[in-house]
Amino acid sequence: MNTESLFKPFQYKNLKLKNRIVMAPMTRAQSDNGIPTQQIADYYARRAASEVGLILSEGTVINRPASKNMQNIPDFYGTEALNGWKNVIDAVHENGGKMGPQIWHVGDTRNSPDYPLQDMEKASTMTLEDIQDTIAQFAASAKKAKDLGFDVVEIHGAHGYLIDQFFWEVTNTRTDEYGGKNIKERSRFAVDVVKAIRAAVGEDFTIIIRLSQWKQQNYSTKLANTPEEMAEWLLPLKEAGVDIFHCSQRRFWEPEFEGSDLNFAGWAKKITGQPTITVGSVGLKGDVMGAFSGQGTEKEDLTELTRRLERGDFDLVAVGRALLQDPEWAKKIKEQNTEALQDFKAESMGVLY
Ligand SMILES: Cc1cc2nc3c(=O)[nH]c(=O)nc-3n(C[C@H](O)[C@H](O)[C@H](O)COP(=O)(O)O)c2cc1C
Repeated sequence: MNTESLFKPFQYKNLKLKNRIVMAPMTRAQSDNGIPTQQIADYYARRAASEVGLILSEGTVINRPASKNMQNIPDFYGTEALNGWKNVIDAVHENGGKMGPQIWHVGDTRNSPDYPLQDMEKASTMTLEDIQDTIAQFAASAKKAKDLGFDVVEIHGAHGYLIDQFFWEVTNTRTDEYGGKNIKERSRFAVDVVKAIRAAVGEDFTIIIRLSQWKQQNYSTKLANTPEEMAEWLLPLKEAGVDIFHCSQRRFWEPEFEGSDLNFAGWAKKITGQPTITVGSVGLKGDVMGAFSGQGTEKEDLTELTRRLERGDFDLVAVGRALLQDPEWAKKIKEQNTEALQDFKAESMGVLY
């Protein structure tokens, strides 16, 4: 298996990466009361030490009352949590890695053992004041990321959480300027978040946004049904200051629109001219939703992935479960040690290997 293309360096603005492998953001919910522990720092440092070019943290939340849906999701505000994150980024840098936090607000998804719906106010439509404060808190967390020494920041705009709830016509029924009849109008909230972050971090600091057509609430829905609609969605985000589009799919090989084998990251790059990240079942046969219903899956080779990378469809490749299972996954790929690659085991979901 020729994987040389995965190990070429990448540079964009202030961001210099030794290779194309990105650890996908994965919620582990093991930060007691929102404070990242030494175990979390060690977990990320192990990936940094084993050839992961860029680590994106698990979703970490902004300073808003309903920003998380499990107690042990890490915060990205407050002295104690930020000290925990400082420990994380220092450990990653000491091990030769680069990292950015994935800044998150879960929106109207709070129904977990930690926050059962009957014990909380039913989700209500955000007032314009709520919206302005939420935008300001996204910017404040991004600025903190830069101040703590992180290399990039990622905005979580995917998978049916707050930002995606604004994009999606099913969840965004607002009649003010944050609602709208098309994807361009419903992107206003995300655009304002990106602009506020850009103003807070300056021109050189790389901003990634993670987007998905699919939602946890609906796997087959699409925000953009045609390349033209995708342009209406992505170009205003580019204009607002997005550097890299992180295009979430459950299976990277699935074409986005009929008549071409380009995937989401392929179309996003073609439309915006910006670097893109692909993701979805890299190195594994079965997709991520199986993992949430207790299924493992077998390993898969990287022939189709590298074919697309070499063709220039996308610039970077995010890897989720394969790196959750095995901190040395990227190192084994680099050394062509395919024998040592592991299948994904369902019980790994709860373990910080
Ligand atoms: C345990 C777990 C937690 C996840 N948490 C997040 C998250 O916090 N933010 C996010 O954008 N995606 C999250 N995802 C999705 C992954 O980033 C990734 O897109 C998905 O697992 C597909 O990649 P894979 O097939 O390589 O695992 C999570 C996935 C897993 C398995």
